[in-house]
Amino acid sequence: MTASTPDAWARVDDFLADLFVGEDRDLDRALAAQHAAGLPEIEVAPVAGKLLQLLVRISGARRVLEIGTLGGYSTIQLARAVGPGGHVVTVEAEADNAAVARSSIDAAGVGERVDIRIGRGEDVLPTLVDEDPFDLVFIDADKESNTLYLDWAARLGRTGTVVVLDNIGRDGEITNADTTDTKVQGTIAALRMLAEDPRFDATAMQTVGLKGWDGFALARITRS
Ligand SMILES: C[S@@+](CC[C@H](N)C(=O)[O-])C[C@H]1O[C@@H](n2cnc3c(N)ncnc32)[C@H](O)[C@@H]1O
Repeated sequence: MTASTPDAWARVDDFLADLFVGEDRDLDRALAAQHAAGLPEIEVAPVAGKLLQLLVRISGARRVLEIGTLGGYSTIQLARAVGPGGHVVTVEAEADNAAVARSSIDAAGVGERVDIRIGRGEDVLPTLVDEDPFDLVFIDADKESNTLYLDWAARLGRTGTVVVLDNIGRDGEITNADTTDTKVQGTIAALRMLAEDPRFDATAMQTVGLKGWDGFALARITRS
């Protein structure tokens, strides 16, 4: 039997990515641009990006909100999935990251579907209240603000909006009640909120793969 090690998880992820994602010129170019600009390699794994695309398509989402753009790797996939006439608003605190993302998103041919708002989530999200509700919200920024982002997802969504919260596994540390890691604390608080706040109907899955031992939470807004 194959030993369950990080190397084996990565090998299996590569196998699955070859099958279900394959070579993708625009995504590969986006990752190369991200690397050349010195941005960290903290984008979603290829199979997770494909899952995001499927969630958008399965839910029929046409308006997507992303919090945490980085170099645009996940944004390109969300923008593809909303289709022509669909719209993605993506929020990024770092102007340099946003510039890399803008260039890669435009090169991927989905630029007209993507609006990058530069600024911290806590400042940008309140400016979206007068826009049409979002159909899907992908939260992938500073983990300390996860509960704030969930609250905004509920306010900016509608009944039925899909919420995806990334990186909930944190190498198993989420069961460590005494953790002093603020990212883990923010993640635990978000998981409790998803479980207890009546605005959400949620679950969470731990995962292993290219990005180690992690996971994501998936929720449906029951009322905003
Ligand atoms: C994990 S990366 C996003 C990865 C991207 N979603 C992908 O999969 O390609 C997190 C991003 O959130 C941004 N970020 C961190 N704190 C933020 C904040 N308070 N508001 C908005 N963006 C923030 C970081 O600059 C970084 O680019």
